[in-house]
Amino acid sequence: MTVSTFHVAPGGKLIGRVRVPGDKSISHRSIMFGSLAEGVTEVTGFLEGDDALATLQAFRDMGVNIQGPDNGRVVIDGVGMHGLKQPVKALDMGNSGTSIRLLSGLLAGQGFDVTLVGDSSLAKRPMRRVTNPLAEMGAVVESNETGTPPLHIRGGATLKGIDYKMPMASAQVKSCILLAGVYAEGETCVTEPAPTRDHTERMLQAFGYEVTREGGQACLQGGGKLTAANIEVPADISSAAFFMVGASIAPGSDIVLEHVGINPTRIGVINILKAMGGDITLLNERQIGGEPVADIQVRYAPLKGIDIPLDQVPLAIDEFPALFVAAACADGTTVLSGAEELRVKESDRIQVMADGLLALGVDAQPTPDGMVINGGEIGTGTVESHEDHRISMSFAMAALRASGEIVINDCANVNTSFPGFVQLAASSGVKITV
Ligand code: S3P
Repeated sequence: MTVSTFHVAPGGKLIGRVRVPGDKSISHRSIMFGSLAEGVTEVTGFLEGDDALATLQAFRDMGVNIQGPDNGRVVIDGVGMHGLKQPVKALDMGNSGTSIRLLSGLLAGQGFDVTLVGDSSLAKRPMRRVTNPLAEMGAVVESNETGTPPLHIRGGATLKGIDYKMPMASAQVKSCILLAGVYAEGETCVTEPAPTRDHTERMLQAFGYEVTREGGQACLQGGGKLTAANIEVPADISSAAFFMVGASIAPGSDIVLEHVGINPTRIGVINILKAMGGDITLLNERQIGGEPVADIQVRYAPLKGIDIPLDQVPLAIDEFPALFVAAACADGTTVLSGAEELRVKESDRIQVMADGLLALGVDAQPTPDGMVINGGEIGTGTVESHEDHRISMSFAMAALRASGEIVINDCANVNTSFPGFVQLAASSGVKITV
């Protein structure tokens, strides 16, 4: 992998109008469903980041004709539910947990064997959360002894629908089972312990596949088909989150983030920043292709520490690295609990963020399922991102309030979710160089 180090000089403020790249979760699903649909699907606003491109390449490797991406436009010639072909080699999921977990369900229902591999971070991430329920459905999906990738999927298995009570709040697990359920006999239901992002359910419906939803349960009947649909991908709220935190902590900031997806299962970052005293206004709210979208204005405001409400945790699960930086700048103590899932993301985001904040002189105490941060000054120093994109971008924003330069190591993976981050951050006021 290329080595990339961010050098971020202290101070500055965020000003202007910014459109961050397309939503990663929606981009992945647009390729998967467009490939399996009957007809031609056109996607606009597609995230041209490494994670979504790994999904795109995987479907090309299975014989799907996909044009683009060209300025966010992708055209997919759907092959139908049973039109995928066996790839000649293992499918490379790169750094992407979403690709490997959703594809494990979708591919469990195909007629061919396939192996899914990934990079050194993905190779450490837990897969029993998908292989166990898939086995209950009759799928043959093997991980190695530690329950980690590679995954070997045996084709031709007869899948049976299940009624699955998910032990953790995970949209990837839910989506994996629903996608296997599309190929299973009878009905498949997944019940989640707390609401998680529902892009799979929404996009299945947009492609004409019936999904019934009640309370925390989503159900579908196997054996249906998908019909091509045009998908306009909104800007990713998880990428916008860095600018939301940056503008909230840097005095004088006033920024508008354009065309951001504000699906209710994703807006924990807005709710939490507002509870901390953040000045955030939703403008021009509208519906685009089954997903709510708005322009988000964020102005500097003095923040205060809070106990983060438990029900917001799954709704902000990818935004905690950035929110920890907000907490470091807040007056008083911020307490996060119930977020043990952060330990099994692209890095152990509790430990890695605590280490980085401590290196910058912030009083941050990691706990098994969260963190306690006493707000104060952010100092100067070098932090390790452990090749985790969201860690790199969070510390880049921390420099807006630091007393000296912050150096961030191993930042190349910012390209997995946010190509062009450095240019966009620099043009809005972050003093960042690579
Ligand atoms: C995602 C679900 C979340 C999130 C990830 C994307 C998805 O993971 O962290 O970035 O697109 O379904 P979990 O399901 O593991 O919480």
